Order: sequence, then structure tokens, then C-alpha cells
Amino acid sequence: MQWIIKYLTSSIGKKQIMGCTGAVLALFILGHMVGNLQLLNPDVKAAQASYNAYTQLLTGKKAFIYAVEAVMSAAFLLHVFLAVKLKLENKKARGPVGYAVNTRKGSKSFATFTMIWSGIFVLGFVIQHLVTIKFGTHYYYQNEAGEIIRDMWLTTIDMFSNLGWAVFYLISMFVIGMHLFHAIASAFQTMGIAHQKWTPIIEKVGIAYSVVVALGFAIEAVAAFYFGNLDATKELREQSRKNSIELEKKVNAPKTSAFVMPASAEEIQVSYILDGGR
Ligand code: HEM
Repeated sequence: MQWIIKYLTSSIGKKQIMGCTGAVLALFILGHMVGNLQLLNPDVKAAQASYNAYTQLLTGKKAFIYAVEAVMSAAFLLHVFLAVKLKLENKKARGPVGYAVNTRKGSKSFATFTMIWSGIFVLGFVIQHLVTIKFGTHYYYQNEAGEIIRDMWLTTIDMFSNLGWAVFYLISMFVIGMHLFHAIASAFQTMGIAHQKWTPIIEKVGIAYSVVVALGFAIEAVAAFYFGNLDATKELREQSRKNSIELEKKVNAPKTSAFVMPASAEEIQVSYILDGGR
């Protein structure tokens, strides 16, 4: 037990846990970017159907989804907590000399130096993202099977068709890409995988991974802005909003009771006999 506490409170322990939690987040973000590729479908009606089916799958109230969300949230919170803790500890260890003796100077990139700041930005970004999209306006949509589900496509496309939001997402993707790029190389170093031959390859893979993720999201933001502002899409958005109001009424309508009032005295008599006179 003692060794666990020692490991968890050591600097290397914290860094390694940051690496592991970061890896979980990096895998999520790649999967999320791939899932959002459906926004690139020029057939917007088909895009609406497939995007809603996909997000319904992710947000469905299933035990598996809750478990994944719990792991993700724990990884995210632990990652942020350890990042801030390590930063404060490093600052304290450096003492009052602080930045006057900057060992990073020259040897590390701009991304390394700004890791904590880009990290804080990502935290802010994720909070706004959850507030505006996941917990944003809830529109209703009826799929081909007749089920009434959430129209996540409409919430997303409404947001991205706004130029301000589209530009904000583009800037955010640059910062997230930068954070990811440095984090991957640094995580491998922390895990002790620093090798003359392998480290440069790992760095290249890190660059490719972060470029693919950031560029993928950026392309999706641009596509959502473009498709969202086409006349056909504007019409579909308007129609979907109207449909949502009708569907909401259906969803909130009081459920009809199974009890049916007997119409006549004979019917009362019959039901009395069938109930055995109870
Ligand atoms: C073009 C860019 C993006 C779009 C269109 C988008 C869209 C969405 C949508 C529709 C949801 C709700 C449905 C779902 O769970 O999939 C969502 C959830 C989420 N997004 Fe994004 N997203 C984008 C970028 C990002 C980025 C860059 C991050 C992380 C840095 C991120 C993190 C999350 C998280 C953590 C959730 C909650 C997942 C959950 O509840 O399990 N998203 N996003």
C-alpha cells in the first residue's frame, strides 16, 4: 500500500498517470473526429439521418455508455488535476528565481512552453462544447423506424452555420492540435521510451496524429458552416425546427389510460360477472 502512495505522490508517478489518462483522451478525440465525418456528406438529409443515428447510439441511456462516460470523465479530471498540481510544484521548486533561469530556453518548442495554457484552453473549450452541444437546445427528430430521438444534427449545424462559432472552432482546433502534438512526444519520454532510433519516429507519429485530428475537426467545422448555409439546408433546418415542436408535443402528451369507461349498465353487469362479483 505504501508504495502506491509513494508512486502516486512522486513526480514520475504523476507524469505517468498523466500520460495514461492523456492516451485515453487522445483515443477518444480521434474516434470523435471520425464519427463527425458524417457532417461532410453533401446530401444533408442523409447526413441528418445518419448523424442523429450515430449520436443516438452514443447518448443512449445504456450501462455501457454510462461506464465509458465515467471512465472518460475520470481520466479528464485526473489529467487536468495532475497537470495543475505538477505545474504548481515545479513553480515552487524553482523558487523565487522563477523564469529568470529558464532551462527550457532554446531547447524546447513553443508548444512545450505553452502546454499548461493550451491545456487550460482545452478545458474551457470542452466545458463550452458540452454546454452548447451536449446540453444545448434539445430538438426532436423522427427516424425512419418512427422512433422519436434527439436531432443532434440540428443543434450542431445551427451552431456551426454561425460564422463566429465556425471561426472559434477553427482557432480551437489549432490550439488542441498543438497540445496533442507535444503531449504525445512528451508522454512517450515520460514512460521512459526515449531511444535514439525510436524517439524521432514517435515524434513523427505524434505530429501525424495531431495533424490528422486537428485538421479533421477543422475540415468538419468548415464543411458544417458551408453546408449549414446552403439554401436547401436552411429550408431543412427550418422544417426540422417545426417538426421538433410537433414531436415535442407528442412526447409530452399525457399517456392514454388503459382504463375504458363502460358505456352502459349492461357493460357494468358483464364486467361484474367476469370479475367474479368482486
Ligand atoms: C468539428 C468539431 C466538433 C463537433 C462537430 C463536435 C460535435 C459533438 C457532438 C454532436 C456531441 C454530442 C454527441 C456525442 O456525444 O457525440 C459532442 C460531444 C462531445 N465532444 Fe465534440 N465535437 C467537436 C469537437 C470536439 C473536440 C475538439 C473535443 C475535445 C477536445 C470534443 C469533445 C467532446 C466531448 C468530451 C463530448 C461528450 C462525449 C460524451 O458525452 O460521451 N469535441 N461533440
